[in-house]
Amino acid sequence: MIKPHGADVLLPRLVTDVDKRRELLAEARELPSLLLNSAAAANAVMLGGGYFTPLTGFMNLADSLSVAKNMQTTDGLFWPVPVMNLAVDVSSIEGAARIALRDPNVEGNPLMAIMDVAAVEDVAEDQLDTMTEQVYGTQDRDHPGVAVFRSLGNYCISGPVQVLNLSYFATDFGDTFKTAVEIREEIARRGWETVVAFQTRNPMHRAHEELCRLAKERLNADGIVIHMLLGKLKAGDIPAAVRDACIRKMVDEYFPENTVMVCGYGFDMLYAGPREALLHALFRQNMGATHLIVGRDHAGVGDYYGPFDAQAIFDELPQGGLEIRIFAADHTAYSKKLKRVVMMREAENHTPEDYVILSGTKFRQILEQGIAPPPEFARPEVAEILMAHYRSAAQKSKD
Ligand code: ADX
Repeated sequence: MIKPHGADVLLPRLVTDVDKRRELLAEARELPSLLLNSAAAANAVMLGGGYFTPLTGFMNLADSLSVAKNMQTTDGLFWPVPVMNLAVDVSSIEGAARIALRDPNVEGNPLMAIMDVAAVEDVAEDQLDTMTEQVYGTQDRDHPGVAVFRSLGNYCISGPVQVLNLSYFATDFGDTFKTAVEIREEIARRGWETVVAFQTRNPMHRAHEELCRLAKERLNADGIVIHMLLGKLKAGDIPAAVRDACIRKMVDEYFPENTVMVCGYGFDMLYAGPREALLHALFRQNMGATHLIVGRDHAGVGDYYGPFDAQAIFDELPQGGLEIRIFAADHTAYSKKLKRVVMMREAENHTPEDYVILSGTKFRQILEQGIAPPPEFARPEVAEILMAHYRSAAQKSKD
């Protein structure tokens, strides 16, 4: 099986030993507390589940700057996006060596983790500007990822963590949320060797479906792991529970049994395009995938990135940076001529009129108007789930 990134075995930071947990929970009651922001909480969940192996905790400022600039930590570990615990206010933890981290996304702000504080550093505005530019390729505050990053604060709290709970993901998405440890175990149990991962933040439409099928066929893979994002998205994106239902229906109806695992991970979308594609690949390697599908505008938003920038960045990877490979897919759409979904570069004698292409925005507009998306774009069973969601959302906004 493919090795985890930078380590021989996965290094999940979640404490599972019952006695140790009890001890830490008791200790936490006496510790000064820091209420995390959602981005830091999502980092803690990823650290907990082993997805961020071999990191042991939150990066300090030198590592964060180095990762943003050179895509490696000061020790030379390949890493594409800083894993930071930024805060607006650190008065509650002043001088403390060990602190309790609290969950902003669950009522009552329960304990998420205990952290050994290695440093609390001030981050200057120009350092944040530089990191923003390097990671997101823009400093435009209209970019949803930039807007979030720049709201997190100027204190960088670094150090190793012991994670004690995986937030709302474990409770709200019990069947779907999986740690990297669990996915590795399941891949091993199934005896899969070549494993294609599919990253998605959408209810899968037919282009997505066909990308999975094509990648599996061409790589002669044993199976596909559809690995959906369960964390926060920008306004207007479709809620995880609805996407989950759509994906499960599509897999049940249109894929052979035991060829697809449907699962998800607890991380907020960064919309960082190419850099996020690298992070996506890194944590898919950690969960045991040998390939990641990277198609058009992967992890992009608006027109901040070129349609295939997220594929091109893999050419810049340092030797030995990652073991996982990408399946670089071209723009995929339904051909009215061929009556099937195709990669556009492979369809001969086609003009733009020969395709059914709907942008995500157009797709949502249709649904908002109560119109069923065409079968060339979405499977009818999937369209039905989406229509029901939009009907109930419209009803709720009237009530
Ligand atoms: S993402 O932000 O999670 O990347 P999305 O769920 O839409 O967004 O896409 C999942 C994967 O499918 C990405 O690799 C993306 O590049 C790819 N993709 C989505 N639509 C198309 C398409 N029409 N043609 C080619 N690739 C696509």
